[in-house]
Amino acid sequence: MTSTNRTRVLTGITTTGTPHLGNYVGAIRPTVQASRNANTDGFYFLADYHALIKCDDPARIQRSTLEIAASWIASGLDTDKVTFYRQSDIPEIPELTWFLTCVTGKGVLNRAHAYKAAVDKNNAAGHDTDADVTAGLFMYPVLMGADILMFKAHKVPVGRDQIQHIEMARDMASSFNHLYGEHFVLPEAVVEESVALLPGLDGRKMSKSYDNTIPLFAPAAQMRKQIASIVTDSKAPGEAKSTEGSALFQIYQAFASADETTALAKAFADGIAWGDAKQVLFERIDREIAPMREQYQELINNPGKLDQILLAGADKARQMAKPFIKELRHAVGLRPLSSVHSASTAKDSKVALPSFKQYREKDGQFYFKLVDAQGQLLLQSKGFASPKEAGQTIGRLQTEGMACFETLGDLLQAWPPEMLPVIEQNLSHLRLASQKKPQMIL
Ligand code: TRP
Repeated sequence: MTSTNRTRVLTGITTTGTPHLGNYVGAIRPTVQASRNANTDGFYFLADYHALIKCDDPARIQRSTLEIAASWIASGLDTDKVTFYRQSDIPEIPELTWFLTCVTGKGVLNRAHAYKAAVDKNNAAGHDTDADVTAGLFMYPVLMGADILMFKAHKVPVGRDQIQHIEMARDMASSFNHLYGEHFVLPEAVVEESVALLPGLDGRKMSKSYDNTIPLFAPAAQMRKQIASIVTDSKAPGEAKSTEGSALFQIYQAFASADETTALAKAFADGIAWGDAKQVLFERIDREIAPMREQYQELINNPGKLDQILLAGADKARQMAKPFIKELRHAVGLRPLSSVHSASTAKDSKVALPSFKQYREKDGQFYFKLVDAQGQLLLQSKGFASPKEAGQTIGRLQTEGMACFETLGDLLQAWPPEMLPVIEQNLSHLRLASQKKPQMIL
């Protein structure tokens, strides 16, 4: 395959923490493996602009960037084959963020999970709705949209919590394309269901926020000590132990072969002492990690070399970003004054719009449907007691688009999943048509 028809896979890692075994098993290892597929064109980057939204400790941002970059490379990411860069080395990203900001409905962003969670918490506590909420948090999905759309990514591997952001990026892409012509590829989220969710030291999901992590590249002695502190039950040596719900066993499974796992299950049934099981676990993990740990240490001790690798990656990325942002600037009208005026944008070739129809049925209830310009049914509501309620639901669909689908589930009739992109696009056309920018007073 040539570079043009390879699937472009892109993902970012926020630089606020130290990589732990959970990150390794859940993200780094599968991504590095997938990046070796010759049919994919991998873009992997350190999302350090995103880090600023969560963290105001400069030393921590810098240290985390160093550790994450070193971890990915030590874990086998081939930076000659993929494009590996720092988000903040690509000045075209914040510029694109602005272009996308101007086509993103505020109502869509109001619905973003992270922002909404902060607002709900404030409301529940009786605080001002937006207390302690920065505009950075609010804009998070737009910056992420720019990351993805800048490089025309087809697939974006992410955790479940990020799916909504990819949907928003699609929404931004189709809005922009609608207004200014086909410039962006609509990305798809890929959620790997099969990768293990690793439990942490206390048995809950391994996560920085629970403070129960085992750092990926801690010195061997420290890793051994931490593994010794994994919670177990109080069964004595010789007593049979259950693998079910055992954090130790689950972590082992994420590193071991099927045969090794069966052998440990047998040892559990035979009453292996917890101390011995922990030793087995430490040795198994260390077998995989030790060779990488050496390279990790070497990179950490040579930050200049990492800077060079990342700058070379940014150079590669900007080979695409620079001409593309130029194209986009031109498309929106940020052009040399001497360039010949071309009026034709997608907007001018009038796209036929869908419409909402409200009506009352014999059952006395109020309904609405969304039909496309040809009259084909796209969405059908359930019955509402009053026309006002029906109207409010239409209002939300108009301002929020796809983002409100999950909360409206009960109010709408089921539709086939393959219709979703069509519905999504029609709603976004409708929203754009109603955003008559020239009439705004700023
Ligand atoms: N928001 C992502 C996370 O927290 C990180 C990220 C930033 C990202 N930009 C991205 C992931 C673009 C995928 C694509 O996990």
